[in-house]
Amino acid sequence: MKIGVVTSGGDAPGMNAALRAVVRYAIPRGVEVVGVERGYNGLMANQVQPLTLRSVGGIIHLGGTVLKSVRCPAFKTAEGLAAGAATLQRNKIDGLIVIGGDGSFRGALALQKVVKVPIIGVPATIDNDVAGTDETIGFDTAVNTALQAIDKIRDTAQSHDRVFVVEVMGRDRGFIALEVGLTAGAGVILIPERRCNLDDLAAKLQRYEALGKTTTIIVAAEGIGNTHHVVEYIRAHTPFEVRHSILGHIQRGGSPSARSRMIADLFGTRAVELLLEGAESQMVGLQGKTVVSRDLAFACRVRKRIDWRKYKLAEELAV
Ligand code: ADP
Ligand code: F6P
Repeated sequence: MKIGVVTSGGDAPGMNAALRAVVRYAIPRGVEVVGVERGYNGLMANQVQPLTLRSVGGIIHLGGTVLKSVRCPAFKTAEGLAAGAATLQRNKIDGLIVIGGDGSFRGALALQKVVKVPIIGVPATIDNDVAGTDETIGFDTAVNTALQAIDKIRDTAQSHDRVFVVEVMGRDRGFIALEVGLTAGAGVILIPERRCNLDDLAAKLQRYEALGKTTTIIVAAEGIGNTHHVVEYIRAHTPFEVRHSILGHIQRGGSPSARSRMIADLFGTRAVELLLEGAESQMVGLQGKTVVSRDLAFACRVRKRIDWRKYKLAEELAV
């Protein structure tokens, strides 16, 4: 058997650990592994290289992805998919592991409509917005990176009695904001899944002040839209001094946490097992402490739910 492995979409800390796990689990079981470079771009352009036990040495602790990753609009076209299929056939690849988010899984399903090749999805994105798994590779690392940054922001916020609006990543979902907001002790968490009424927000800040709070950290997901607008509203409608901080891509980099690496190991090895067992179109995931697998289409069909208990808990503890 010869399998390909590709990292696709936004990179996530732990992608390298997953790649290492795939290679080091597959080769001793008699499976040849090739790495596809630059996501679906490389698949279209036949950028494929053989991987060995040694070529994945010294990468377990590295953020990013040594295979590189891209967003590749051309893969959404019939020509792009045909070029990807041709690369699989030319290199006699009889199984593909796609390490990425639900967009990458959509690409994988589109490819399977053009060529009959088994594909296993390994969920990796800092956004954690993939249904079918409690957690994605990279999420825990990004949350901890944002948390450390906000702890520092809190020092200066407290010294100056300021309100801070801190924007965290999350293209259109609030999983990072919720996890970071709860653990950073944010006074307010703004996520796209819940409509934000700015009058209510201003009233809440006044209420906090009446309770003796001199500092409020507002954690806002980028997915709510323009967070600058929130800052301007607070400035115009409350007496509080307010500052804005956008954490940005710092959240995507850095050495993967122990948890992100552990999940990468579990997912990468299970993905190889599934190919060896003859699975055709599956994704791996974590449910509680158990590694599970289900239809690859599941993540594309189902919208992952926010845990509202965490949201309520953050509100309750913010007084
Ligand atoms: P993620 O995998 O992190 O969700 P994206 O949403 O950017 O990231 O998707 C990664 C890539 O997957 C896209 O750049 C594109 O190449 C491919 N892709 C996404 N949706 C489709 C689709 N419907 N058909 C073909 N390819 C797709
Ligand atoms: O999907 C991960 C993510 O970091 C999102 O949180 C963010 O909206 C997006 O990628 C940014 O993508 P890019 O690096 O392509 O600008």
